[in-house]
Amino acid sequence: MTTHKTILRIDASAQLDERSHTRKLTRLFTESWTALRPLDRMIRRDVAREPIPPIDSDWIAAAFTAPEERTSAMAERLTLSDRLIDEVIAADVIVMGVPMYNYGMPAALKGWIDQVARIGRTFSFDLARGDVPIEPILSGKTLVVLSARGEFGFAPGGPRAHMNALDPAIAACAHYFGVARSDIHTVAVEYQEFKDGRYHRSVAAAERRTPVLAAELAASLASAPLRRAA
Ligand SMILES: Cc1cc2nc3c(=O)[nH]c(=O)nc-3n(C[C@H](O)[C@H](O)[C@H](O)COP(=O)(O)O)c2cc1C
Repeated sequence: MTTHKTILRIDASAQLDERSHTRKLTRLFTESWTALRPLDRMIRRDVAREPIPPIDSDWIAAAFTAPEERTSAMAERLTLSDRLIDEVIAADVIVMGVPMYNYGMPAALKGWIDQVARIGRTFSFDLARGDVPIEPILSGKTLVVLSARGEFGFAPGGPRAHMNALDPAIAACAHYFGVARSDIHTVAVEYQEFKDGRYHRSVAAAERRTPVLAAELAASLASAPLRRAA
């Protein structure tokens, strides 16, 4: 078994340059990782630069048809989804740059999730399991969410925690990527719209924490045997 790991970096900010805090954080994370583990593989998926088409009626019909019964048009319709899922399967660590837009995740990232959450590939569904019919197929991966928000106080217990439709939504979907809740790590810049001392301190803290998190995860993944999907 190879000891090399694979990192899947996903960027979702509509700002395509370094004005984007989340892009800067994903870059810091991956550069820190590569400095420590230069032989690891890096996959990049930029859902803002290369938008993922939303799923539609044909996509759903194809996804819910058994593979052996799909027409060639149906199989073709799932090609991008297959490629995105293959990237997730290959990944040991998924690092996402996720700005908060209107209290949730960017539509571009939601489009990616909709293509990746697929019956028979990332989850199975069986009513014989009673009230919990969905079971993830993948496991053992780590998710790093590098976020930025214009306002502040979105963490649990904060004054805007009840408005945070971003972190709970990603956590709810994380099992589709083979990530357990305890394996989600979040770093967030806050106060971006205030441009005051709190903002500058928040940026500095996030930019300090991100390389440290990369080093911690690189060390812990190097020593732990990975659970791979069947
Ligand atoms: C379209 C849009 C919607 C936004 N909505 C919110 C919001 O609901 N709450 C918030 O705190 N900040 C909001 N912001 C501020 C962004 O979260 C902030 O600018 C962040 O730094 C963007 O990430 P980026 O720097 O990686 O581009 C919004 C910004 C944009 C452009």
